[in-house]
Amino acid sequence: MSTVVNTGQAEAWNGPVGQHWANHHERYDGMLASFDEALFTAAGIGEADRVLDVGCGSGSTTRRAARLAARGHAVGVDISEPMLARARSLSTGIGNVSYEWGDAQVHPFPADGHDVAISRGGVMFFADHTAAFTNIGRSLRPGGRLAFVCPRPAAPDGEEGRALGLLASLLTASATRPSAAGTSAPRPAPGPDLAAAMASLSAPDRTRQMLEGAGFGPVGITAVDAPACWGRDAGDAVDFYVSRGPGAEVPEETLSAMRDVLRPYETDRGVLLNAGVWVVTARRAS
Ligand SMILES: C[S@@+](CC[C@H](N)C(=O)[O-])C[C@H]1O[C@@H](n2cnc3c(N)ncnc32)[C@H](O)[C@@H]1O
Repeated sequence: MSTVVNTGQAEAWNGPVGQHWANHHERYDGMLASFDEALFTAAGIGEADRVLDVGCGSGSTTRRAARLAARGHAVGVDISEPMLARARSLSTGIGNVSYEWGDAQVHPFPADGHDVAISRGGVMFFADHTAAFTNIGRSLRPGGRLAFVCPRPAAPDGEEGRALGLLASLLTASATRPSAAGTSAPRPAPGPDLAAAMASLSAPDRTRQMLEGAGFGPVGITAVDAPACWGRDAGDAVDFYVSRGPGAEVPEETLSAMRDVLRPYETDRGVLLNAGVWVVTARRAS
């Protein structure tokens, strides 16, 4: 029986945040898929591997892992019921993929049950990272591999930092102005807890220390930049951005100013904002 220690995260990912990710899984995949090449190259999944995908969400990377481990198996673990429901519905007919609900910090993984653990942005949300990586490490065979991507802090003058910073301040300014109906507009998402968690592995020296403390061997941490696709065009991207926040309607003049912020990033492949991640690799000590 799985228990939960990260109760705040469980609330968020089983509430509106997780529901939004499940409803917009294609959009979120579009934003994150440009980091898949780096993640899967780092993971080096073999065709007989038993793969664990931590914080698998809607399971895009779990399914890709299952295709690579054609004679093996891929299991995705996540704390979010809505996202797991989406993952299961998208995986119908794939024989070597499965999903489990649980808090990866304490989930009772089978000891030595996996050859490789991967994660695309699903390992930042632990109150105690060393405990979580120790638990994940126990589920790996001795010498088993860990590969994950996590956000790098956006440089304020970098493309993503600048554009998202402007969108957030436009939304905040409109939220503090009462509308004609006496209500105010949505606040920018994500909320403070999630934002702090998102950044929890942004300092590479700390990440290395946590992994070594959890019994992992040589830790590699590499910076990778890639374009994240926010929408078909500026209007579509702004609608998506605004939909992440709760609350009332955003005034048209604010939406229009937000579209102007994103227009320079429109390309024939959508609105692309360069973003940065760390690609982290390690091995469970033998
Ligand atoms: C940023 S999303 C990434 C989802 C997915 N890996 C992807 O690339 O689309 C973070 C995921 O981590 C999951 N998560 C957060 N805390 C968790 C925990 N303590 N244990 C397991 N999963 C967790 C969330 O439910 C969510 O699915």
